[in-house]
Amino acid sequence: MNFLEQIDLSNTPKHIAIIMDGNGRWAKKQGQERLVGHSFGVDSVRATVRAGKNLGAKYLTMYAFSTENWNRPQDEIEGLMNLLVRTIAGEVDELNATGVRLHSIGDTDGLPLDCQEELIHAIEATKHNTTINLIIALNYSSRWEITNAVKQMALDVQAGKLDPEAINDELISSKLNTAAFPDPELLIRTSGEHRLSNFLLWQCAYTEFYFTPVLWPDFREDDLYKAVLDYQSRERRFGMVSEQL
Ligand code: IPE
Ligand code: IPE
Ligand code: MG
Repeated sequence: MNFLEQIDLSNTPKHIAIIMDGNGRWAKKQGQERLVGHSFGVDSVRATVRAGKNLGAKYLTMYAFSTENWNRPQDEIEGLMNLLVRTIAGEVDELNATGVRLHSIGDTDGLPLDCQEELIHAIEATKHNTTINLIIALNYSSRWEITNAVKQMALDVQAGKLDPEAINDELISSKLNTAAFPDPELLIRTSGEHRLSNFLLWQCAYTEFYFTPVLWPDFREDDLYKAVLDYQSRERRFGMVSEQL
């Protein structure tokens, strides 16, 4: 039996977040430049979106570039930005043909202008699609996002528009870039690293984590199905005891 057939489709995560890691190591293993790994990683994104749709997932959030990634060598950053621009521009028709709505979270203003333009265009061009939401985290950092939310609330309090007593979980969530999306039930990180690297710190309060040694360019449909199977074997207790569930 294949992996997809083993999955209980009535209990799949609606929102899956993925830290796509290991492109550089994958390239090195092939004796190639790091950028080759990033290029091949695009096929993994396509495969993941297909698999996500098969699972009935409604949101896929994929970490593509962190604010800390600006500290990488300049040629890798430029290559990555070029790849992003080309990929986003080249993929719009396919996204529309398959019902994928694109969103982005992160500091878009800090991206190169051509990247911003392609991104804005693709988001606009896919806004009527309803099958699945593909949320790209670009120039994203969770602490940056939370800091912005705190500043915004502080300004509202200062202006007399917000009562500090009204600040709660829900209000804070509504100030984040992810306000329109539910929290992820499942987070996957590839390449054998076991950390969040500043990704969705607030949103992952009760998320199930799945770590796989698979390097991102090797990640395919079955790898997503395996992660979901593992997720389904777990008991999500949200602070309660088994008997209460
Ligand atoms: C993930 O792969 C992609 C980005 C962070 C942009 P890496 O480039 O981090 O690959 P490794 O971790 O060095 O192998
Ligand atoms: C996290 O991967 C960011 C993305 C996948 C875009 P990194 O490779 O940058 O993370 P660290 O540096 O190993 O924590
Ligand atoms: Mg990495």
